[in-house]
Formats: sequence, structure tokens, C-alpha cells
Amino acid sequence: MANGQFAQKKPESCAFVIFGVTGDLTHRLVIPSLYNLAATGLLPERFCVVGVARKAMSHAALRDSLMQGLRKFATRPVDDAVAERLLECVTSVEADPGEPSSFDQLKEQLLKLEAARNTGGNRLFYLATPPSAFAPIARELGRIGLLHEDGGAWRRLVIEKPFGTDLASAKALNAELLKIVDEHQIYRIDHYLGKETVQNILVLRFANGMFEPIWNRDHIDHVQITVDEKLGVGHRGSFYDSTGALRDMVPNHLFQLLSLAAMEPPIRFDAHSVRSEKADVLAAIQIQSEEEALRNSVRGQYLGGKIGDTEIPDYRKTEDVKPDSTTESYVALKLTIDNWRWAGVPFYLRTGKGLGIKRTEVAIKFKQAPFAMFRCTPVDRLSQNYLVISVEPTEGITLQFNTKVPGPTITIDGVEMKFRYKDYFKAEPSTGYETLIYDCMIGDNILFQRADSVEAGWQGVQPFLDAWKKAGAKGLEFYKAGSEGPACADELLKRDGRSWRKLG
Ligand code: BG6
Repeated sequence: MANGQFAQKKPESCAFVIFGVTGDLTHRLVIPSLYNLAATGLLPERFCVVGVARKAMSHAALRDSLMQGLRKFATRPVDDAVAERLLECVTSVEADPGEPSSFDQLKEQLLKLEAARNTGGNRLFYLATPPSAFAPIARELGRIGLLHEDGGAWRRLVIEKPFGTDLASAKALNAELLKIVDEHQIYRIDHYLGKETVQNILVLRFANGMFEPIWNRDHIDHVQITVDEKLGVGHRGSFYDSTGALRDMVPNHLFQLLSLAAMEPPIRFDAHSVRSEKADVLAAIQIQSEEEALRNSVRGQYLGGKIGDTEIPDYRKTEDVKPDSTTESYVALKLTIDNWRWAGVPFYLRTGKGLGIKRTEVAIKFKQAPFAMFRCTPVDRLSQNYLVISVEPTEGITLQFNTKVPGPTITIDGVEMKFRYKDYFKAEPSTGYETLIYDCMIGDNILFQRADSVEAGWQGVQPFLDAWKKAGAKGLEFYKAGSEGPACADELLKRDGRSWRKLG
């Protein structure tokens, strides 16, 4: 994991091969991140970018298109000299996993480029493609021997979620990839782990003496994990309608937040120890029966409404969405973790699109102090004690506690102690992918998902997928775009005598 914004060590020389080089991910995130690394002197000394597309394109046309993308998506002013030096490393290559001979040609071209650029044989294959292409591309790369680690050179495969669409398909994908490469060669990106505040959960918990002793069922009442989004589905109707909020967000992003907040302390700050503890806590999520899954979940779909100044249509009227779709754009779940630290502590998770606010946070609610002492005073209630780790819109940490209101009588009010990153640290704006890409190049996989944690994540949500599939439209709630989500989500906590933290 990069130290500060970026660690200072330059990665070893390598070839950076991007499949899907003409796509959105490459233009929006990969190239702007490589640019930011180049601008801070953190690209390898000897380096080349091989852009692979299914249809031939001249080197100049590809460089041109990447430059346009960079101008549009760069997070800092583009220095032409740095950009040109980076793009000068880019070569366009045509290959299609449906045509094996094109991969043989790719191999020939890559070996020539590697020799010309003297990159030493280290290779990173970044699959910025739809997930259905992961296994076919990996199979072809395996067949022609490009992923085989020999002569001291490393070979790495980078893929980005979704890793499967349920437990069975995630297992099948892992099994398929692991026939071709070793686990240490696979870098599964979850972009939430590129966020500083998400990485900071580990530091907050384990680099401070005061939290860990109370971070358990004796002191914590429950945990709320919220990822609210304002945007609707927009032009991603086709992908989203076959995916839904649960698959899109929970086994990956929300479970990253959950596992960091709930894991046991790793014995060392290294990839094996950290990833093992994360996988273990996900594996401890209690598997719910069908009835429990229905009782402990709420799924909703947005109706048209106004978010700020923007009108969005009903989810069902979105381009490429089925008019009778039962796909959820909102989900709330109650989960329990069946281990000694957390038994009996509910974890409430919620995420949705088309909501009134963009907010990502983990809120730890501590047990209420006994009230007896205040019975004979004007105090009628105590405020709640929350520790809130905010990822969006503010990056920071807030502690809520009770204080005495100055004055002759005993009156108590809840106050907040706030830490905001921006008040303490100055960070260059970034895409959030620099650290991840840099870590792939230096071979640090602490921020990447291991096969077992991907499967444990799917295992945790599979009961909900199964129960909802059977239930069909029954139980699907509707909420107005711009609201806080379906009213039933409040019921999920209310019946336990609890409530969600309010929006805003
Ligand atoms: C992506 C999902 O993985 O994460 C999107 O596919 C979602 O649907 C996005 O909008 C949220 O990421 P962030 O960083 O904006 O919270």
C-alpha cells in the first residue's frame, strides 16, 4: 500500500498491457492514473503500454483518443511534455480471444516491444473489459505462455469487479483463473480500497490504543454501513437491470467496509495476514434461511423525481430497463456475524441509487449509558454515541457524545468532535486508482481481493438473491427519487428499537 499519497519507490520495468484500451475505464481512469504516476515520477524507468482492442487501430489514432480522454478526465492540469512521454510508450495491437491466431500475433508483437524497450519480461495484463471476457482472455494468454512466470520475471493479471454474479459463478471464475495463474498473480480490484478513508479504517482501529478494547459486542450496540447515491441508473440500464443494487454494491464495496470495520487485528501489516482476517470475518456472516432473508431485507426501486435540479424518470422507464423490471435499485439488509467479537451485534447495510444525497459512511453505535443517574434531573434523554467514519461527501471521522449545556441546571446535549482530512493533509486530487495501479506494479496485493474473500462475500448475499428470486415482484417497495429510500427500510431497524442515522 502506498505510503501517503504515493510511496517513493519506482516499480520495476515492465510492459503494461491493457485489454479494452478503447473503452471507458481505460480513458476515464487507467490512463489518467498512469499520467498522475508519471507526473510524480512513479512509472518504471523502462516501460511500455500495449493497448489491445478487438478492431485494429493505428498507433496515432489510439494515442490521440487516449490524449482526448486524458484532457477530459485528468485530475490535475495536463503537462504536455509528461503526457507525450507517456503516450509515446503506447502501441496499438489487435487481438480477439475468439480468434486464437490473433493472440499468437499479439505474443510476437509483445516480445518484440519488450526487447526494444528492454522491460525485462515483467508484464501486467489489465483487463479493462466486460467481465465475460476475463476467462477467455486469460485462457488465451495462458495458452501462449504469456502468464507463465519464468526467468525471475513477474506476470500479473488485473481484473475489476464484478467477479461473478453469484456464489456459483464466482467459484467457477476463480477456478478457471486459478487453472491458468497462481493466486499471487491475480489482482482483483475493488475501487473502494483505493479510497484513503477506507484504507484508514485499519489505521484508526489498530494504530490507536483507545478503540480496540471497546470494539466488540460488550460496548457496541450495532453498526450501520451506508452507501447512498444520488445518480440514477443513467445509460447503464442494460448492465444494471440484470445486476441490481445488491450484486452491484454489497458483496464488494459494502463488504469491504464491513470487513475492515469488523475483522480481527491482523498479526502483521502484510497481504497474507490482512486478507486472511478479512476473508474470515466475511465467512462468519450468518447464513440466513429463506424466511430470515426475506424478513431481514428490504429492496426498493425508485420512481421518478427530482434530485437537486435534475428530474430523473421512473427506474422502469430508463433506457434498456424492462418495463416490468423487479430489479432493485435500493437494498437494506440486517446481517449478523457469528463470532466471539460480534455475536448479537446487528450490522445494518443500505445502499441505493436515486437518493437525496451522496453519502458513504460506517457508523459505529455504542451502547447507551444507563439513564438512572439523571432520572431526578430535567434531562429526559441522552444523545446517542456514534463514531462515524465518513468516506463521502466529507472524508473524516466524527465522534458524537453528550456534554453538559453551560448553565445552573443539569441539561445535556449531544455534540460532535470532527476530524476532516482536508484540515490536516494536503493531497493532490487523484482518480483513486493510482495507488491500486502502483501496487499492482510493485507486487503488493494487500488492497486486492483474494479468491476466498470474493467467495465469502457471495456466500453472505446468496440467501437474499435466492429468496428474492423466488419472491419475484412480491416485497419490492417503491421510493421517490430524491427521498431517503423506501419507508420499509426504517421498519427494519424500528422493530429492533433502533433507527438509521438521518441523511445530511
Ligand atoms: C460501482 C458500481 O462499482 O461503484 C456503480 O458499479 C456505483 O453502480 C459505483 O455507482 C459507486 O462508487 P463510488 O466510488 O462513487 O461510491
